[in-house]
Amino acid sequence: MEIGIDKIGFYTPDVFIDMEKLAEVRGVDPAKYTIGIGQEKQAVAPLSQDAVSMAANAALEVLDEEDREAIDFVLFGTESGVDHSKSGAVWVHHLTDIQKYARSVELKQACYSATAAIKMAMGHISLHPESKVLVLGTDIAKYGLNTGGEPTQGAGAVAMILSANPRILAIDTDSVSMTEDISDFWRPLHSDYAYVDGKFSNQAYLNFLTEVWNRYKEKSQRDLSDFEALCFHVPYTKMGKKALKALTENASEEDAARLMGYYEPSVFYNKQVGNIYTGSLYLSLLSLLEQGPELAENARIGLFSYGSGAVGEFFSGTVKPGYREHMLKEEHEALLSNRRELTIEEYENILQQALPKDETDVELDTQEAAAGTVVLSGVHSNVRNYTKK
Ligand code: CAA
Repeated sequence: MEIGIDKIGFYTPDVFIDMEKLAEVRGVDPAKYTIGIGQEKQAVAPLSQDAVSMAANAALEVLDEEDREAIDFVLFGTESGVDHSKSGAVWVHHLTDIQKYARSVELKQACYSATAAIKMAMGHISLHPESKVLVLGTDIAKYGLNTGGEPTQGAGAVAMILSANPRILAIDTDSVSMTEDISDFWRPLHSDYAYVDGKFSNQAYLNFLTEVWNRYKEKSQRDLSDFEALCFHVPYTKMGKKALKALTENASEEDAARLMGYYEPSVFYNKQVGNIYTGSLYLSLLSLLEQGPELAENARIGLFSYGSGAVGEFFSGTVKPGYREHMLKEEHEALLSNRRELTIEEYENILQQALPKDETDVELDTQEAAAGTVVLSGVHSNVRNYTKK
């Protein structure tokens, strides 16, 4: 039985900054951000969009009544959780009207946890083939003003419905994962901002990639010639290029040219959104499937997931015939092109806003700054209130 991705939804807030303008204000050559880092625009999350509302908005794009009845597992991958106890999955389950006899859980391991969620979903569906699982990857990447990580911020969510006989991507059951306790990127409980050892994190990412790929090759007996395209975790698009270069260093000219040919379509959305941590690999997959040429039936895509701290995994999937009919290309292009550009001053104000860290109630402006069906409308008596517009 094939198990995999049946539908993919995406949401990003409706405001962004232009990377060239950020560079000007920071006194940096704009080419460093647009070429050196590889980012054109950066999505900015107003206070009224958090990990929960963004995930609910991404899920609402794809859920229909049949899905709502069949989903019995909601897995919420994030490193931007909003409560130490209650999982974001419970709110999303409610906000998207999924039938009540379902499990709802949040998973954490930096940018990796949506991949763990996919693996759990596959195990669940193999035991219960009639079930569907909603997998969410949702995050706000925040390093702070004037930091090295600032050009790699972003915000957004990807929602995937996993099922038997999927219509988009059947996921292979062989994969290789790896764990090592390192401090390349983390966010202590006291901090709104991530801490990062930038250069070390780049190196750690590449070390993980090389190691899991080499082991995957041994175990699966596949090599680059078996892959039509590759997708990577994309903290910034230049990192995706570094990953591709590392894997194709000793490849045949034919393999290298084919795989490099898919790089631009596979980062088209990421370039305009920035890092969305758990969702970044899946935004790259979405970008490849919607912005690249139509792939042949059963073309194999390799996927590398990396979550600092660190866990990495290389796995793969094959595209299903007619997958294009189930993509929402026009909707995603409209979502990105209808956003409003913020001035750098407006962005700086938003980035420094935070919900009260004490018991104060707050009512948020949900009219102007946050398109999307679901918004965080306020916090009352320490309870977060989400509103469906
Ligand atoms: N024109 C063109 N290119 C230029 C340039 C110019 N004028 N000036 C600089 N560049 C190039 C540099 O040569 C460099 O390219 P290479 O990486 O190919 O050598 C690139 O621009 C970046 O320049 P620096 O290395 O000087 O940049 P930096 O020190 O300011 O920081 C960073 C870069 C380390 C990625 C930093 O943005 C950062 O810390 N980001 C957050 C951490 C991160 O994303 N790590 C990725 C791996 S970890 C992970 O994947 C998990 C996750 O999601 C966080």
